Amino acid sequence: MTDKTPWYKDAIFIELNTRAFKDSDGDGWGDLPGLTSKLDYLKALGVDAIWLLPIMPSPLRDDGYDVSDFSNIFPAYGTMDDFKTLMIEAHKRELKIIVEIIPNHTSDQHPWFQASRDPNHPEHQKYRDFYVWSDTDKKYEDARIIFLDTEKSNWAFDEKRGQYFWHRFFSSQPDLNYDNPEVQQAMLDTVKFWIDAGADGLRIDAPPYLFEREGTNCENLPETHQFLKRMRKFVDEYKADTLLVSEANQWPEDVIEYFGNGDEMHMNFHFPLMPRLFMALAKGDRSPIEEILARTPVLPEGCQWGSFLRCHDELTLEMVTEEERQWMWETYAPNKAMRINLGIRRRLAPLMENDSRKILLMHSMLLTMIGSPFLYYGDEIGMGDNIALLDRNGVRTPMQWDNSPNAGFSEASADKLYSPLIDNPVYGYTKINVAAQEADPSSLLNRIRHLIAVRKQHPLLGRGDFEWKSFSFETKAVASYQRTYEDKRIVILNNLRDTPVSGWIPETADKFVDILTGNVIHPGDYTLQPYGFVWLLPVD
Ligand code: NOJ
Repeated sequence: MTDKTPWYKDAIFIELNTRAFKDSDGDGWGDLPGLTSKLDYLKALGVDAIWLLPIMPSPLRDDGYDVSDFSNIFPAYGTMDDFKTLMIEAHKRELKIIVEIIPNHTSDQHPWFQASRDPNHPEHQKYRDFYVWSDTDKKYEDARIIFLDTEKSNWAFDEKRGQYFWHRFFSSQPDLNYDNPEVQQAMLDTVKFWIDAGADGLRIDAPPYLFEREGTNCENLPETHQFLKRMRKFVDEYKADTLLVSEANQWPEDVIEYFGNGDEMHMNFHFPLMPRLFMALAKGDRSPIEEILARTPVLPEGCQWGSFLRCHDELTLEMVTEEERQWMWETYAPNKAMRINLGIRRRLAPLMENDSRKILLMHSMLLTMIGSPFLYYGDEIGMGDNIALLDRNGVRTPMQWDNSPNAGFSEASADKLYSPLIDNPVYGYTKINVAAQEADPSSLLNRIRHLIAVRKQHPLLGRGDFEWKSFSFETKAVASYQRTYEDKRIVILNNLRDTPVSGWIPETADKFVDILTGNVIHPGDYTLQPYGFVWLLPVD
């Protein structure tokens, strides 16, 4: 193994919402000191990096993705000093912190927008062209609407200015005008601000939409890539090992552009792979994964996929066909209230019908198939969701630490919590919580910790090449593949079915050791348990 491998290729990430994690001051909202007090938990889980959902001031119309000040902390989360303390404590534990940057838009409460919309504002001249204004709402008609359930148009009329402004997301989130060099500079200044504050990486929200051009769908435009390359160049020159992870929710052939020639984003999430893991499991057939990996280009040097099962948003079905989307909805979201936009607003455990064999199998694929894995807070203990809450809030409820009042999340009275806790007989916090699972060696938490620990002993799982292998005559029932790096290889078998599957170990070797259990396995007939999986290291 070479020393030159960038840190993010070996890293395991967790995504969490500061608001949802731990409240230190009893106001019912999680905060940065609360998160700092739980770093040991995250370290023990085995993650290397923590991606914080937006922490900047915001009216929270889109949970912080509507920023009203790019260089400060949302007051209920704490102060810049609290952020610095978090950084110091995280770094002491060799944990990295990834901060969310939202370049495409701001809140309509942002002072830039307030000045831009109001001709009588003292700074109107300076900010007049910071946003995309138009006398008509008939421009850029080929651009799709993303928040289909709430928005009817990408234009909204502003009374003060007497013009329409462009917005790809909620109408309370006007898009910035990247044709204005001052906007570009302001965003680079934001990047610099968070690097100066100590961030080890930045998650770049919604990059495909930075520019608009008539006659296009206003996604993935050459100008957008040019700006992202400029951002990368700045980062390379300013603090070279800062990770840029972009959220381009696109097909593989479009996403590849976000890596440039290794001179754009270091990492991008593999959105099309994610729903196909769920599809393959429900069908007991690996074909959907095969199809998408066959379409997945080789990455330039130094780049990496980010892989994930669930996140703070709906399980997006944008990157599947219409037919696949219907099938996914019928299979995983039979109740219409579980659907939002083009996706499914449920957490992992309920999607897996609370079957720990399936939850673990999905983690086995997440941790061994491709790229660097991103966990979503709470999924490691099998937290549930609450589809009675609006928007995507049902998957953003407070972390369940123990069975005490408010799940150990907050000392506030229950009516002060930013969100109700999950409190039902199956997923409620008296049943599903960290303390109970820490005390039980066979809990989901401890088994996921074990999977993570084993993955970390074998960096080839983050770095290696991927190749499908056959297992049994019913090859499609088993997601069997080999990862190879330098002179090492590991063969992984995941049984996608609820029945045992027998077959042959798909490589010649005198014997294999299952690195998860230490069991020695000889080539020949072998039976995988229902939803069983093994990670096999050849021993010659
Ligand atoms: C993607 C984020 O993940 C989502 O939560 C947000 O609503 C949109 N970008 C708009 O910023």
